[in-house]
Amino acid sequence: MWPEDKPLSVRLSAEDYLDGGLTIQDTVQISKTLKEYGVDLMDISSGGLLPASMELGPGYQVPFAEAVKKEAQIPTIAVGLITSPELVREIVFNGRADFVALGRELLRNPYWVLEARPEEEVWPWQYRRAIPRA
Ligand SMILES: Cc1cc2nc3c(=O)[nH]c(=O)nc-3n(C[C@H](O)[C@H](O)[C@H](O)COP(=O)(O)O)c2cc1C
Repeated sequence: MWPEDKPLSVRLSAEDYLDGGLTIQDTVQISKTLKEYGVDLMDISSGGLLPASMELGPGYQVPFAEAVKKEAQIPTIAVGLITSPELVREIVFNGRADFVALGRELLRNPYWVLEARPEEEVWPWQYRRAIPRA
């Protein structure tokens, strides 16, 4: 049994990009059902399950997270080619998703968060001796 006081998140691939495949409307319906079963948060990706072509670009999967959030009325995580703090702010502050997850960008640059938010309080205390001082 999952503890009531812990959040439960489910990741779905929202769209197969194939005729007869899973669509965002299927994903909205699945998300509504998962919400009824007590899921708190949907992590919305797309493709990846079957060979298909899709147009890739910054934030290309955000509209899927946005549709699930608005139509299934459940908080979402947006993912996929989100690499700039500006895009993160655009997504979160416009209410398109509740969270943003970065994958490959954090593999390329594990210090991405510190560079995006250089303010001292964001640094883990163990790192603070390394803060650049003028
Ligand atoms: C090394 C690696 C392994 C991944 N493994 C999984 C996985 O097991 N399941 C999954 O749903 N997505 C997986 N992904 C996809 C990521 O979770 C993420 O959705 C994807 O990389 C797009 O986000 P990004 O552009 O920020 O990397 C993986 C990505 C990478 C780079």
